[in-house]
Amino acid sequence: MFDFDRVIKRLGTHATKWDNMARLSGITAADAIPMWVADMDFAAPAGVTAALKEEVERGTHGYYADTGSWAAALAGWMARRHNLRIDPAWVSPTPGIVSGLGLILQAVTEPGDEVVLFPPVYHAFRRIIPANDRRILDVQLVETNGRYAMDLDLLRAKLTPRTKVVFLCSPHNPGGTVWSPAELRALATFCADHDLILVSDEIHCDLVFSGAKHTPTLTAAPEIADRLITCVAATKTFNLAGAHVGACVTSNPALKKKLDARIGACGLSSYNGFGMLATEAAWRTGEAWLDALLPYLEGSRDLFDKRIEAAAPGARSMRLDSTYLAWVDFSGTGLAAADVAARVAERARIYASPGPQFGPGGDTWLRFNFATPRPILNEALARLDDAFQDLRAGK
Ligand SMILES: Cc1ncc(COP(=O)(O)O)c(C=O)c1O
Repeated sequence: MFDFDRVIKRLGTHATKWDNMARLSGITAADAIPMWVADMDFAAPAGVTAALKEEVERGTHGYYADTGSWAAALAGWMARRHNLRIDPAWVSPTPGIVSGLGLILQAVTEPGDEVVLFPPVYHAFRRIIPANDRRILDVQLVETNGRYAMDLDLLRAKLTPRTKVVFLCSPHNPGGTVWSPAELRALATFCADHDLILVSDEIHCDLVFSGAKHTPTLTAAPEIADRLITCVAATKTFNLAGAHVGACVTSNPALKKKLDARIGACGLSSYNGFGMLATEAAWRTGEAWLDALLPYLEGSRDLFDKRIEAAAPGARSMRLDSTYLAWVDFSGTGLAAADVAARVAERARIYASPGPQFGPGGDTWLRFNFATPRPILNEALARLDDAFQDLRAGK
């Protein structure tokens, strides 16, 4: 019913992942494989295509009227999948999550204020903070038993009077960490104790593998709801990143008012109709598609981990509980990071996301997006095998 093995040609379709690869990576080989930016090479759920087709066939594409059905679809999804009650009145749509983060910073902080990050972390966090003249306060994650943990003692030691906001990535990108309710509560309590706004980016919340369970921060720590903004979207879950629609959710009316004022000030209170239609259709019709996708991705995760660790002795792929973004530490191979990068880019003709993009703690790592049909993944793995062949011969 869902053919995730089907290869869809994306090169030449304005697909960032494929069409911006050569420019950004310098890999010009015609057969290069993109394993960087977080979108998937699979077709979206049929219900999304049907909704867009209906719009296209009607042929009229005027301003979109928000009748409330979009936020209701989001609330329905969150209730069904995460047992989370969201009042549609708490929801502010934004043109994607990263733009939402920028708007939040403008709404609740001043230039020069500090925003806490837990690196290695999603690189756009690191971009949007200085781009808004705010400063990053890095509190590096600690790796214990192959899993990341937040070091709140280090955060306490680094805190200054200018620290105003925490950006949490939950589940965490990269590394796929699914934070436990206790970890979320500890951070939430910290934020309450130090008067910090907690922004919980939960864009990866639906892409969680068997044995793990995502807990919304609002569920783990309802007592801090007044200082919490949760960011969610259908775009990562259903492969609709080009739709550029996300939601910032807060039950605090004063906080929402400040955010909505910034949204209005930027002329963003009128929404991209195609994005709204696509994401609403995904939440309403995409459940069976997602339930089929998750085991496919889990199989790809297992395949990728096994093959990369066999290909490059000493490499270690962090066991992902979530996301399709394998996070691989090459420090144990004995190779310099530049050598690893060259092998992957030049010998394997693969563009993986460079670890240093993710900030402190990422230097010896690469991030590989394996959300691609198995024929492409198998080809990538065969090339990686070749790229490190001499390393195995020497062992
Ligand atoms: C944690 C996280 N937040 C946000 C985004 C992107 O969101 P958007 O495209 O809606 O700006 C990504 C994309 O990879 C992500 O990993």
